[in-house]
Amino acid sequence: MSGEGPGASADGAAGPRVTVLHGVNLDQLGRRDPELYGTLTLAELEVAVTGFAREVGVRASFSQTNHEGEYCEALHGAPQVADALILNPGAWTHYSWAIRDALEVAGLPAVEIHLSKVEEREQWRRTSVIGELCFETVSGQGVEGYRTALELVRDRLRAMSGRAR
Ligand code: DQA
Repeated sequence: MSGEGPGASADGAAGPRVTVLHGVNLDQLGRRDPELYGTLTLAELEVAVTGFAREVGVRASFSQTNHEGEYCEALHGAPQVADALILNPGAWTHYSWAIRDALEVAGLPAVEIHLSKVEEREQWRRTSVIGELCFETVSGQGVEGYRTALELVRDRLRAMSGRAR
C-alpha cells in the first residue's frame, strides 16, 4: 500500500488512467507541415500532455505505431491498462473499419482528437469512421486540444462513477 489512497500510483500521480493512442505518421510531428500540426515533436507533445494531465487530475500514458494491426491490438488491451482513451489515429481515422471495430471491442469512453481542423480540409478528411464510438471530437486546437480532451474524459468518468453510485 502506498498510503496515497485509491487511484494513486507509485510515483504519486493520482486519478483515472487515460491512454493516448497516436496513429500513423504522428511520430513524424516536427517534420510535418507546422501550419497544420505545429512545431513540437511527438516526444515534446507528450511532455506537454503529461503536464496537462497532472493539472486536470488524470494519469496519462502514451503509445504510437505506424502499423494498423498494432493499433488494433493496443485497443484490445486497453481495458486492462486504462479507464478512458484519447485517440488520434491520423489518416486511419478516415477509413480504418478495423480500428473502428477494435475500438468497439475496447468499450471504453473515448475522445477523438486531431491537431488540425479536419472538417475544414480535404473532403476525405471530413469522414471519421471512429466518430460514432467517441463521445466527443476535438479538432483544430493543436496541442492545447489535448488539455480539452483530458478535461472531457475526466468529466465523463466522474459522471459515470456518479451514475454507478
Ligand atoms: C490528423 C489529421 C489527419 O487527417 C491526418 O491524416 C493526420 C493527422 C491531425 O491530427 O490533424 O495524420 O489526425
